[in-house]
Amino acid sequence: MSAHPPQISASLLNADFARLGDEVRRAVDGGVDSIHLDVMDGHFVERLTIGPVVVQAVRPLASIPYHTHLMVSQPLRLSRAFADAGSDLIVAHVEADDDPSEVIAAIHGYGRAAGLALNPETPAEAVLPYLDDIDLLLVMTVHPGRGGQAFITDVLPKIAELRAEIDRRGLSLPIGVDGGVNLETIGPAHAAGGEVMVAGWALYREAGDLSPIVQALRAAASAGGA
Ligand code: DX5
Ligand code: ZN
Repeated sequence: MSAHPPQISASLLNADFARLGDEVRRAVDGGVDSIHLDVMDGHFVERLTIGPVVVQAVRPLASIPYHTHLMVSQPLRLSRAFADAGSDLIVAHVEADDDPSEVIAAIHGYGRAAGLALNPETPAEAVLPYLDDIDLLLVMTVHPGRGGQAFITDVLPKIAELRAEIDRRGLSLPIGVDGGVNLETIGPAHAAGGEVMVAGWALYREAGDLSPIVQALRAAASAGGA
């Protein structure tokens, strides 16, 4: 059970990109805790999304943290530009081509927080060597590449296993949960140990004021869940 209050992180992937600034403001006004920017390179995953210029454009719109999720094969080459563009935290994938320790050290060298993500099929063992060095562990509950997918419930035991290991080591390392988070899945995900709950479609399927859905997601997270 996660002793940490749930944070809601707004993934922009399903926002209206013709009005991205307004969509960031909608999330901020709705009371989210961070903005989650999904970067895809068309190689690590099939799709190609945003570059540093987009992060730079929306950065001034909010003071809450901007989390940049690099779904890229070469995070070592790309992370500097996203740091310079204003990312507060940069998440690379343990499955990427570069050595995770080198990527984590580089991101810290830019004065940013470093996160590590693992895909649904990647075993928890893959990230154990890095837990002491990162600031967020992002557990994917969908296969990366698209928003609006169904939550993979088989990942829940892995979240619990990683939470137990982090607690055993006495680390203050939050677990992020990314993909398919909604009113039904956020409770079990938080109960398993998730803290930074990334929501894309669950937020941006809504029109207008996002505060009702943000509050409902927080309440559903805290309610835990069967
Ligand atoms: C998927 C992205 C996720 C996704 C979350 O590759 O990393 O951040 O956009 O969106 P939903 O909540 O729609 O699954
Ligand atoms: Zn993401």
